[in-house]
Amino acid sequence: MRMLSKVPEGEIKRKLKEMLNDRRYEHSLSVQCMARGLAKIHGADEEKASLAGLVHDCAKWMSPFQSFRAAKRYRINLDFIERKQPGILHATIGGELAFDLFGIDDPEILNAIKSHTIGRSQMSLMDKILYVSDYAEPLREYTGAAKVRKLADGNIDIAMLEAIEQKIRHLLTKRYLIHPRTIAARNEILRKLRFSSNRVM
Ligand SMILES: [Fe+2]
Ligand SMILES: [Fe+2]
Repeated sequence: MRMLSKVPEGEIKRKLKEMLNDRRYEHSLSVQCMARGLAKIHGADEEKASLAGLVHDCAKWMSPFQSFRAAKRYRINLDFIERKQPGILHATIGGELAFDLFGIDDPEILNAIKSHTIGRSQMSLMDKILYVSDYAEPLREYTGAAKVRKLADGNIDIAMLEAIEQKIRHLLTKRYLIHPRTIAARNEILRKLRFSSNRVM
């Protein structure tokens, strides 16, 4: 059997349960399940999607102080928005931690973890599957999650656009800073959906 991590899944789950609160742990299992399902529908690697979903929030327990310290350790250069809203850092740090704690070295998985919160330009299918699953897994209570879930079974790009735009609207309401990588991700998907030769919108 193919090994995507040096630590067996049961052991990863045990560690995550220790590190995360109950709600976050249940969310991780739910993202795992949804990501696996979407990978099956859209022809991505199911095992990778499942593992990415399981561990994507492995750095979510960190305080801002711990995040800054970890960023320094991993030589992650912080921009202004990451310094002011350090919550978003758990994605980038999570990609590093997944390697350190669980021995996951697959770039497809690690990149998806790193982009699951603010997105990035040139998102891969795996990135989108994790982003959408994290945003819309069935335990998410906000209105809009169900709509994204429904869209995701059909066209992952349309689901991704809906999720990212819902998130941007939320950030506007709260008057938070919006990361340029989020805008880049949104514009690229919109360009593909609306302005390319095989447009669907
Ligand atoms: Fe997260
Ligand atoms: Fe999450």
